[in-house]
Amino acid sequence: MAVLRFSIAIFISALVLPVTSVMAQTAPSDEERVEDLLSQMTLKEKVGQVSQFTGFWDVTGPAPTDETQARKAELLKSGIIGSMLNVVGVEEVRPIQEYALNSRLGIPVIFGLDVVHGHKTMFPIPLAEAASWDLDMIEQSARVSAIEAAAQGQTWTFAPMVDISRDPRWGRVMEGAGEDPYLGSRIAVARIRGFQGDDLSAPDTIVATLKHFAGYGFAESGKDYNTVDVGTVTLHNVILPPFKAGVEEADARTVMNGFNTLNGLPVTGDGYLQRELLKGEWGFDGFVVSDWASAREMIDHGYAKNSVDAALKAMEAGSDMDMESYVYLDHLEDLVDSGTLDVALLDDAVRRILRVKFELGLFDDPYKYLDADREAELLLTPAHREASLKMAERSIVLLKNDDDTLPIRKGEKIVLIGTLAADKDSPLGNWRAMADDHSAVSVVEAFEAAGLDFVYAEGAVLEIGDAAFPNEVVVNLTDRSGFPEAVEAARNADKVIIVLGEDGLQSGEGRSRSELGFPGVQQELLEAVYEANPETALVVMSGRPLVLTWAEAHVPAIVQAWHLGQESGHALTNVLTGAYNPSGKLPMTFPRSVGQIPIYYSHLNTGRPGPLTDVFWSHYIDESNAPLWPFGYGLSYTTFEYSNLRALKRGDVVEVSVRVKNTGSRAGEEVVQLYIRDIAASVSRPVRELKDFSKIELAPGKRMTVTFELGAEDLGFYNANGSYVVEPGDFEVFVGGSSDATLSTSFEY
Ligand code: NOJ
Repeated sequence: MAVLRFSIAIFISALVLPVTSVMAQTAPSDEERVEDLLSQMTLKEKVGQVSQFTGFWDVTGPAPTDETQARKAELLKSGIIGSMLNVVGVEEVRPIQEYALNSRLGIPVIFGLDVVHGHKTMFPIPLAEAASWDLDMIEQSARVSAIEAAAQGQTWTFAPMVDISRDPRWGRVMEGAGEDPYLGSRIAVARIRGFQGDDLSAPDTIVATLKHFAGYGFAESGKDYNTVDVGTVTLHNVILPPFKAGVEEADARTVMNGFNTLNGLPVTGDGYLQRELLKGEWGFDGFVVSDWASAREMIDHGYAKNSVDAALKAMEAGSDMDMESYVYLDHLEDLVDSGTLDVALLDDAVRRILRVKFELGLFDDPYKYLDADREAELLLTPAHREASLKMAERSIVLLKNDDDTLPIRKGEKIVLIGTLAADKDSPLGNWRAMADDHSAVSVVEAFEAAGLDFVYAEGAVLEIGDAAFPNEVVVNLTDRSGFPEAVEAARNADKVIIVLGEDGLQSGEGRSRSELGFPGVQQELLEAVYEANPETALVVMSGRPLVLTWAEAHVPAIVQAWHLGQESGHALTNVLTGAYNPSGKLPMTFPRSVGQIPIYYSHLNTGRPGPLTDVFWSHYIDESNAPLWPFGYGLSYTTFEYSNLRALKRGDVVEVSVRVKNTGSRAGEEVVQLYIRDIAASVSRPVRELKDFSKIELAPGKRMTVTFELGAEDLGFYNANGSYVVEPGDFEVFVGGSSDATLSTSFEY
């Protein structure tokens, strides 16, 4: 009803304009509609638009007894809630939307959810997807998630997380694209395009969120929510690029700020980041949402005196919508009435939120995401599962394969060991959205389906506490009762496949770790099994790089399998049997020991990079400087040879070409990576920086020439003042299948 009233108002105002005006006859633009609506809103209604609350209740059931929930229901009915999160499914969403549409102005609610790596059909965790370096597949993964989420009434996902991180202790590395700003930017763009599609008003596209703006991934000591202190050069060259690319290249419609302080200032209250940079320089015209209660947490940070001050500081800094801290709802009206807060700032926030709602087409058809038939048809379809399988295969990284231990040969008698091999939950990862419990295909099930000759032994239990909040309680990790059976089975097998690692809920938000070995007695199990039968392939399921130094020194084959989603078991089986030739490359460096962290390929050289004397150079006395495996690294069942590297200047562009040959006996894919080094500049530049890559496929014996172009935008950088500069000088260029590629040449620019 209320929608109808609104359209009639527009219609009447069009009638009273002069008939000679051509403009008057055309439909009003979204911007005109936004302004018209804004002009009708009371202060209270404006405050409602900038407030977001969580659902977690069944509005079709009896009235909520809990005071807060009852308050939310009342607010919805009076049109004083702009957005809800965690309300999912047509049946749940529809009545809430009806409340809003029946309110005075009938402004629809925008519904958000963390659809991070799948909605009903789970995909690999984002860090795993990043290991594919396959941008089309990653876009497709986000597309499928959007289709499923939209079919369940969602119009907004809080993804992608584009925080660069160089610290695997931080549990949220599972949610990002790893350590590199270039790879991170390309993946950010792919994911946003997947979620938002070409037309935001289509019933199967949803708004994406770039998060967490900014710096959250640089938490000191890898401890979640911890302090972030970085200089201008790192901020602009490493942390900000994926956000900038997401806004400028993919038009992300929302940005989420974060829990952290950055150089002393809580980012939720950071006006430089949100107003000057994002909305100013980058021209972002969508809206910023706070992280969960991050506005109120500015009090704990010692930045806001109380919740009134928190509301004022967050709004002034450009945090447009308050997620779940109630400080806007409780205080903005008074702040405006008393003249403390300029209403123009609130209007700007409301305008941005309404704009996105218009773009979604919610005013024209607020029920288009609420079609029960679509909901019934579009979840967990065979096509979606197939997309998830393909993505999972490409996310797996082969780390070691001495003497062709893998793939499993026909007729080999296999023993499959490890509790994670039978786990139907861990592969679903941490952000499970609407996934059904126990719905991932386990390795045991997939081995059975593939008809492999194998026996299974659990070996060691990896049982963690409460499924929702497991990090507090880790139980049953010392049980060695399964060892004898596993060791005996290993002794009698031709080959051991042992699956070890982390439970799916041991990484993610709030799951930082100080040790990065296998939890519990899994390492002991590995050593016992290896001693019984060294013909062992280790499969590692984890949400982060683990320290695998012992395994690397002993076990002949190692496969990094992350948490691969719905089709995990099938994807792994295809790789282990050679039905799919692995092609993944690490998006994060694997350390040899926790003490090396942060360790990343793109470090500065220091003044003492090499051994000057025995002691006085940049090194450890008890550990090598080298990682266990570097960024960009990953093997295949075939081999590739690189040759004929050339760098030729053509006008303003440097053309870099290289010849790649498949020198093995199988067809395979390779990620050809191009790195540069700026030899001398006004600020020290990293020893290597990824600037481009191309994933190619080659039949055995075939070769091809891969060509890249480097322009000024690739060779410049942000200097100590945060300004982008391109400085003439000498550059080295490296091309190969890893960040430690040895083939190099140089050019002058
Ligand atoms: C807190 C997380 O930091 C954020 O990424 C997420 O989107 C919100 N919670 C909502 O669930």
